[in-house]
Amino acid sequence: MIKDTETKEIQNETERQRSFIELARALTQQKMQTIGRPLTYCLTTFGCQMNEKQSEAVAGIMDEIGYVRQDSEEADVVIYNTCTVRENANLKVYGRLGHLHSLKDQNPDMKIVLFGCMMQEPQVVEKIKKTYSFVNLVFGTHNIFKFAELFYDMLLSDMQIVDIWEGTDQIVEDLPTERNYTFKSGVNIMFGCNNFCSYCIVPYVRGRERSRKPEAIVKEVERLVADGVSEVMLLGQNVNSYGKTLENPVTFAQLLTMLEEVEGLKRIRFMTSHPKDLSDELIEVMAKSKKICHHLHLPLQSGSSRVLKEMNRRYDKEKYLNLVEKIRTAIPDISLTTDIIVGFPGETEEDFQETLDVVKKAGYDTAFTFIYSKRTGTPAAAKEDQVPADVTKERFNRLLALVQEQGRIRSSRFAGTVQEVLVEEESKEKGIFTGRTQYNLLVHFPADESLLGTYVNVKLEECKGFYYLGSLAD
Ligand code: 5AD
Ligand code: SF4
Repeated sequence: MIKDTETKEIQNETERQRSFIELARALTQQKMQTIGRPLTYCLTTFGCQMNEKQSEAVAGIMDEIGYVRQDSEEADVVIYNTCTVRENANLKVYGRLGHLHSLKDQNPDMKIVLFGCMMQEPQVVEKIKKTYSFVNLVFGTHNIFKFAELFYDMLLSDMQIVDIWEGTDQIVEDLPTERNYTFKSGVNIMFGCNNFCSYCIVPYVRGRERSRKPEAIVKEVERLVADGVSEVMLLGQNVNSYGKTLENPVTFAQLLTMLEEVEGLKRIRFMTSHPKDLSDELIEVMAKSKKICHHLHLPLQSGSSRVLKEMNRRYDKEKYLNLVEKIRTAIPDISLTTDIIVGFPGETEEDFQETLDVVKKAGYDTAFTFIYSKRTGTPAAAKEDQVPADVTKERFNRLLALVQEQGRIRSSRFAGTVQEVLVEEESKEKGIFTGRTQYNLLVHFPADESLLGTYVNVKLEECKGFYYLGSLAD
């Protein structure tokens, strides 16, 4: 919890970091003069939108220091923002480190920086110290605000620098940041998670839940809007419990009401919602709002009440389906998306059938399906009844077929309608642009660059499953 008395300290921290940006910039300029070319960096983000947002903060600082961003890893600095939610994410990083080692052999001046969730795991850090000693800087999720200082220290040192914090109460505001898009932006409203779902490593690597003050969030959104942003995505592991730990508690629905007032802001999105905390107040605010998109990401994880209990999700099948019905009654055009895990320890065919049943009843527009991944240190990892890989894979394929079929049926409801779309980028095909409806549905249509970042009416002509082909209706 941030007390007012701490605000000054945090402002001092912002100034401190700005002074390290200046110091690093001076060193960098000197080096560029010596070598006679710009210095470059390549930044790759693994994982979720929170990571994307934190990478923008790191990129903003690298830009201020004077490095030029590029896509190729043949760069002076290579940075990975890592994820550890599933084992695959870790394996990808290790695989790519092997390749980086060979690049570094060719360019011994190259610096390698690893940060983010994976670095909060002690066994990972041990492995990096032992096997990947060519990595220059390692830090975690709690001290990203210290990036400028750590980077400066790294420039001056030949040793591997490792700075991992176990947790923090600090939320440092007002550091420079880059933005991937000029017209839309993620906005962190809270950090960490207190839910301890039994399969999930996030609470261990992101720490306890802490919310930013509503005034700081409103100020950031106002600033973004003044800068050309019209759509914001409010980010948190469990946005429905936003504000509970603030000195003056505020509900998520109240925060949304405050943001609704921001003039010039056109669309508000948010994720992720935990079904156990989704309030009637939120449904009411969403139904009334002119800006909140009619899309909810409501992770199910499993349709079996028995498995949900083992997962420590604190709702059951009936409660989840009742909630879906309540939302659909209040907001009939809502688009629902979800996350589902297959092969949680002890999951039986019967349990899996319950999951299929909820998928059929809830009618998801999209469902993200995951094979259960054992994460060291979580309660589920210690369970003895792990499901064999071939059984999980077979269930996964059946679930995927069902969610794809459901998704097609749900998307087809828009066929032939005209929808307002935010034009986001040119697709791989020249002259064809991609946009999103408020329902988070992708549409491809012929347009030109001048429409980027604007809202246009598009006729949805041909449903391609999870996206549409369309044409401008104006
Ligand atoms: N194995 C598989 N999927 C997981 N998720 C979280 N932890 C695990 C795990 N150990 C999924 C959940 C969550 C999404 C972000 O990742 O479905 O909602
Ligand atoms: Fe993980 Fe559960 Fe927290 Fe989501 S709510 S981050 S699944 S512990």
